[in-house]
Amino acid sequence: MQRIEMTSDLSFSRLVHGLWRLDDWNQSKEDTLALIEHNLERGITTFDHADIYGSYTCEGLFGEALNLKPSLREEMELVTKCGIVLPSEQRPQHKTHHYNTSKEHIIKSVENSLQNLQTDYIDTLLIHRPDPFMNGAEVAEAFTKLKEEGKVRYFGVSNFKDHQWNMLQSFLPFDLITNQLELSAYNLENFEDGTLNLCQEKRVAPMAWSPLAGGDVFHSDSEKAVRLRDTLTKVQQEVGAKGLDQVLYAWLLNHPANIMPIIGSGKTKRIDAAIDALDIKLDHDQWFEVLQSSMGHDVP
Ligand SMILES: NC(=O)c1ccc[n+]([C@@H]2O[C@H](COP(=O)([O-])OP(=O)(O)OC[C@H]3O[C@@H](n4cnc5c(N)ncnc54)[C@H](OP(=O)(O)O)[C@@H]3O)[C@@H](O)[C@H]2O)c1
Repeated sequence: MQRIEMTSDLSFSRLVHGLWRLDDWNQSKEDTLALIEHNLERGITTFDHADIYGSYTCEGLFGEALNLKPSLREEMELVTKCGIVLPSEQRPQHKTHHYNTSKEHIIKSVENSLQNLQTDYIDTLLIHRPDPFMNGAEVAEAFTKLKEEGKVRYFGVSNFKDHQWNMLQSFLPFDLITNQLELSAYNLENFEDGTLNLCQEKRVAPMAWSPLAGGDVFHSDSEKAVRLRDTLTKVQQEVGAKGLDQVLYAWLLNHPANIMPIIGSGKTKRIDAAIDALDIKLDHDQWFEVLQSSMGHDVP
């Protein structure tokens, strides 16, 4: 599996496994451990979490599985996020859905994540969403403390536009290392509004969330989905891919920005299909055909 150098001493696997839906998979901790081991054996060593996934339960489910074989911790990179506050049975003190990027909240959230994931350190912590109430100096204080204490190695953001990235970066004594963005052939916003260009300018590899549009490409009856499925089917036949999912992954992987798709399925056959997509080459015509069918018109 190809690896992406994030810093001089941290690399991510080109494909990342996302745990947002872990609580829907209704697995025993032994099943989750088997899934983790399957990923590691196939070279997927980077796992994407957030404090809020599964209404604050998914990190704990993963941690219980990891605790069955703690030696695996050194073979993986753990990414998690903070900054969204959700009302939840697990957090009765939360009154409303809002964002909190205060120093106190970031530090408390990381301490919970460490406990839930049953680990001493997080490889990369992301601010989950840009917070209109963000105090860059306070975030910098929290990040610096967490780094000095060895609780978090590196930091990044998610869903940040260029001005939000630049504001936060201006307060930090070290570089942000990634921006996790919604990137798929179905959702082109970050391709079109310059956000992906910011990553390229900063030489930062982006992580792609919902690379299959959360499954919408396969199920939706929207005109865009129908049009895109037709084009993906044509390209699938041309390149000999086994499914539309592989063409969607290949479309991201063939882009020059070193995009790291986050796989959202817990099914090993779907994970294996994503891995096989690493070998699929799309030519320029095919890449633009997919783009234009999603846009619904030709490029100008
Ligand atoms: N930073 C953020 O704001 C943010 C937001 C959302 C997600 N994320 C991260 O990104 C990860 C991936 O997101 P995602 O789960 O939305 O990814 P996704 O791969 O776009 O969507 C996964 C969904 O698509 C379905 N699917 C996959 N292959 C399929 C196929 N061949 N045919 C039909 N359905 C198929 C899956 O069903 P099955 O379960 O049946 O396979 C699952 O329900 C998350 O786990 C999380 O780590 C981050």
